[in-house]
Amino acid sequence: MINLRTNYLGLELKNPIIVGASDLVTKIENLKTAEEAGAAAIVYKSLFEEQIHLENLQMDKQMHAYNNRNPEMEKLFPDITHAGPQEFLHNFRKAKEAINIPLIASFNAVYNESWIDYSKLLEDSGADALELNLYCVPDDFEREGRNILEEQLAIVKEIKKIMNIPVSVKLSPNYTNLLEVVSQMDKAGADGFVLFNKMFQPDIDLEREEHISPFYLSSENDYRLALRYAGLLYGNTAASICAAGGIFQGKDIIKLILAGADAVQIVSSLYKFKISHIATMLKDIEDWMEKKGYKSLRDLSGKLSKKKTGDPYVYKRAQYIELLLKSGELTKEFSLR
Ligand SMILES: Cc1cc2nc3c(=O)[nH]c(=O)nc-3n(C[C@H](O)[C@H](O)[C@H](O)COP(=O)(O)O)c2cc1C
Repeated sequence: MINLRTNYLGLELKNPIIVGASDLVTKIENLKTAEEAGAAAIVYKSLFEEQIHLENLQMDKQMHAYNNRNPEMEKLFPDITHAGPQEFLHNFRKAKEAINIPLIASFNAVYNESWIDYSKLLEDSGADALELNLYCVPDDFEREGRNILEEQLAIVKEIKKIMNIPVSVKLSPNYTNLLEVVSQMDKAGADGFVLFNKMFQPDIDLEREEHISPFYLSSENDYRLALRYAGLLYGNTAASICAAGGIFQGKDIIKLILAGADAVQIVSSLYKFKISHIATMLKDIEDWMEKKGYKSLRDLSGKLSKKKTGDPYVYKRAQYIELLLKSGELTKEFSLR
């Protein structure tokens, strides 16, 4: 019997697959399907602070004011503009009642006070953990990066002071030194990190010559960004590591666990292959482990991390140099000569 158990944020999970925050999880039927397919935990769709304020404010003006925080929100999550926090909390409680696996709340706020108030409300609504959706797309040429990080660290510290459930931070990959950011957030009390937040980018419709914010899924191979940082962070932070972004197959999950992730979050693969794909991924992980003679997922954990391999270049320069040296082979493979 293969043991896929893992610990994430102090929660004992039956396997490493967590369904990430998206519109999929707002339907009770989908939550149940995910649980039946074997999901170990689910992150409920984020409560956006704008959702709270927009009820009382002129929507267009406010959308502009919030643009540096959630530039995609207006188009990507159009439905949230009509649902207030009470309705959100009610739906969250219903979701929690419907499943037996942990339900993680996700929150994205703008003003410090709101982070505090609504984090507590989510905890009171039965959340097993809280995921803070932290990112900032800068629109101020004078503001220092350090200043943004300090504001985010203050949020984590304040929230940790009042919460009794674990708190994770869903990070953007766009910091100058992500390792230092993790180290600081670790000290601020973060129990885990989700690597990484998906940055939906704007696009342009050439026919209409207008900006658009199309809905698009991640691509296969996107998981490799998280793989690099899971490999670098393993054994260097007390916090849990959850990889996210472009995880489509069981083999991607095995690689991320080998690099050092404790768990993974998946969304695009469920849109692409349906929620039942979770069962296929789990089977693929078990088959590989059986073939390789592993009995427990913990035996794989961080086996190919920087720390365990002892190779200082493995997640850094060596791969790049190797790639450069192989560029001749690539040229041949793609018949460019
Ligand atoms: C339709 C949709 C809605 C999403 N809503 C949220 C959200 O409310 N909060 C959040 O933190 N991430 C949200 N995400 C991002 C996902 O949780 C996840 O981080 C991202 O899609 C990358 O994972 P994937 O490659 O498996 O899709 C959403 C993604 C999609 C596609």
